[in-house]
Parts: sequence; structure tokens; C-alpha cells
Amino acid sequence: MSKKANLKIDFCGVHFENPFLLSSSPVGNHAEMCARAFDAGWGGIVYKTLNLEKTFKVVMPSPRLNALNYGDKRFIGLQNAEQITDRSINDNITDIAALKKKYPHKVLVSSLMGFNDEDWRTLARMSEDAGADMLELNFSCPQMARKDAGHRVGQDSDIVSYITSVVKKASRLPVMAKMTPNITDMVPIAVAAKKGGADAISAINTIKAITDIDINALTPLPNIHGNSSATGFSGPAAKPIALRFVSDLYNAKNLNLPVSAIGGIEKWTDALHFILMGGRTVQVTTAVMRYGYRIVEDLIEGLSDFMLDRDITSIESLIGRAAQKLTDPSEFNTRYQVVSVINQDKCIGCGQCYISCQDGANQAIKFDSGLRKASVDEERCVGCTLCKHVCPVWDCVSTREVDTRDQRHAAVF
Ligand SMILES: Cc1cc2nc3c(=O)[nH]c(=O)nc-3n(C[C@H](O)[C@H](O)[C@H](O)COP(=O)(O)O)c2cc1C
Repeated sequence: MSKKANLKIDFCGVHFENPFLLSSSPVGNHAEMCARAFDAGWGGIVYKTLNLEKTFKVVMPSPRLNALNYGDKRFIGLQNAEQITDRSINDNITDIAALKKKYPHKVLVSSLMGFNDEDWRTLARMSEDAGADMLELNFSCPQMARKDAGHRVGQDSDIVSYITSVVKKASRLPVMAKMTPNITDMVPIAVAAKKGGADAISAINTIKAITDIDINALTPLPNIHGNSSATGFSGPAAKPIALRFVSDLYNAKNLNLPVSAIGGIEKWTDALHFILMGGRTVQVTTAVMRYGYRIVEDLIEGLSDFMLDRDITSIESLIGRAAQKLTDPSEFNTRYQVVSVINQDKCIGCGQCYISCQDGANQAIKFDSGLRKASVDEERCVGCTLCKHVCPVWDCVSTREVDTRDQRHAAVF
């Protein structure tokens, strides 16, 4: 067996053998599934959100999924119209207890959604009695129409603070509040959860979105017997938005709580990105729905090799390292400038950079139609790097630092 880096991490006093968790969703729906996930190597599981069925009847529409495809790229994101668990509370609690008995060293987080104080208290106590290690409060399901549940609650600081305090009084377990991204600024909501006693924040839940429209039926997808709805979007295409929210939480000076980062993680590099932006653990759903539990092997191996290659001995030392580099745009050093450099040996003469620069940038690419080669007019180039991003050859266009823009532009204009 190849050497592995130390991937252990403590989160709110709970010990994880690695930072990789399944996030609350169908991938952690019952004991048999969770057992297979633990056997595959996941360090923890956030169980599918529990509900006391006497207060709220869950409706699972059919069809309830639609993948976002782009050109020949399939499944770059996923829209779902699913609510919380439709299994009975007794079945779920029995499963949680059985899992903790069989896997005492794995972490099981119980995700809860109540519809009144007593619901929240009961769900918290039942989870604790069953042996759950932590609680996650679902303040973020976008498919809840009721004002007193899901993302509607998650947009109201007072209610978030209040419910968190109700749960904290009912249970001794560490509590993580799961945030909705369907809001401009997540930080005040996370701070409200902290005020209520939250020990950690998880983010993000799914983003309300519309992925496609059937142009024959003139109906958005998923087409649920003639109707549809803007519902939760997840997967790789959601990652940039998730990274932004996670770094907001990490950098918030008035928060200072550990973050469990979620949103579009598929490869070990995605997981590392979230850790570098402030995640202490990371959670995954959509990639598991697509590829299965086995992706955890690549997550473990990739992150481990990265750390071994660089003599990094703990995940702790990576947390937030890139988030610290975020500044307000007004603080950018605007005297710093690069220009593009086109590698003549690699240029295939397609002219894409020329067209893009002509019509979408600064007319700084020269194209020799005889030789079929592109080159850069450095006097005009402002270093926007559009050419580098549209070039179909990955490493054909690079950049080079030049003298400050004031001196150079004086010559052009
Ligand atoms: C089909 C589906 C069902 C989900 N159900 C829940 C749920 O019951 N509770 C919850 O907190 N989040 C739920 N989520 C949200 C995920 O836990 C996660 O926050 C989101 O999908 C983003 O992560 P991903 O891009 O790795 O999927 C669900 C997501 C999907 C795709």
C-alpha cells in the first residue's frame, strides 16, 4: 500500500479520520447505503434530513431531477425538486443507531428539520439518543414553500438564532447550521446562528435555479405533469458560487466558526480548493450521485499525494490559505501589468484569439494569414488574458510582467 498523508481532522471536538463527508441527500438515505459509504472510506456522513412526519407530509415529485448539459459536456450541474426524507422517523432513528453501533469510529451527523420548537427538540433528542455525533440544522432546503421551514427560515436571522438556541438547549451535541445560498450575504445569518449557540456552519445548500426548457412542450424541466419550479441546483457548475460563500464565512471577522464546505466537489482538487478557501471538512452529494461512493478513494489519494509531495503534515495548515488573499477590488495593485505571449511553436493558427481580441477586447492580436500564426502587439495589449482563455491549446498562451501601465499606455494613446 502506498504511503498516506495524515488526513485526520478535528471538527467541533469530533474526530474525523479524513475530511470527506457525504452531505445530507439521497446518498445517505438509509443504513445499508451509509454502511457501503463508510466501507468505501468516507470519514463521515450527514444523514438525509429527518422530519417528524406528524407535522409535515413530505411530497416527492416525479420526475424530480434535471441535469444541466452544455454542448457535449453532460451533467455539469443538477437540478432537484426533492424535499427532506420521506422515510418514517422510527426507521431513520433505528438506522442511525445501527450505523453507530457498527461504525463507532466513523462520524454520523444527523440533519434535522422541525416545523415548531417541539419538533426541533424531539428530533435533536432522538438523534442524540441514537448515538449521532453531531447535529446539522437544515435552514436551507429550497423546496419548502412554508414560511416556517427550509430556505425561508434560513433568510431570517432572528428565527435562525432562535431555533439554534432551542436545539442547543435540548441536546449536548455540537450543532452545525446549514446555510442557504439564496441570499446576498450569508454572514449575518451565520452570525445569528452563532448567537443562538451554533458550533459550526455548513454551506452551501442548493441554489434556486432553472436548468432547461422543453421547447416543444414550452415547459421548464423537470416537467412534472405540465408544471415545473425553480428548485435546488448543485454540482460542478455551482462550485464558483459555493467557493465565494465559503470564503465569506471564513473571512468574516465577527464569525470565527469552523466551516464544513459544500458545493460541486467532484475531484480532490475541488476539495482542496474548498479547504484553501476556509473549509475544515468538505461534503459531497452530486458527484456521488453520478459516480458512486468510490470517488472517495481518489479524494483521499489525491489530497494525500499533494500533501506528501509538499511535506505538508496536517490539513489544519491548509485551511483558508487562499481565502486570506481575497481583498476588495479597490485594493488591487493597478500598476501591476502583464502582456500575453503566444508560443509560436504551439499556435495552430485557428485565429480564435484574434477574433476574440478584435471583437471582445483591445485589438492587440496580429494574425498572419499566410503563416497562419497569431502574435501579440504588446503596445496594445492590456493583459486581460482573454486570448489565453479562448485558445484551444491549453499551454499556448502565457503572460509576462511588463513595466507599469502608466509608462506603456502613454506610448499607445
Ligand atoms: C437530490 C438532492 C437532495 C438533497 N436533499 C437534501 C436534504 O435532504 N437536506 C440537505 O440539507 N441538503 C440536501 N441536498 C443538498 C446537498 O446536501 C448539498 O448541499 C448540495 O447538493 C450541494 O453539494 P453538491 O454540489 O456536492 O451536490 C440535496 C441535494 C440533492 C442533489
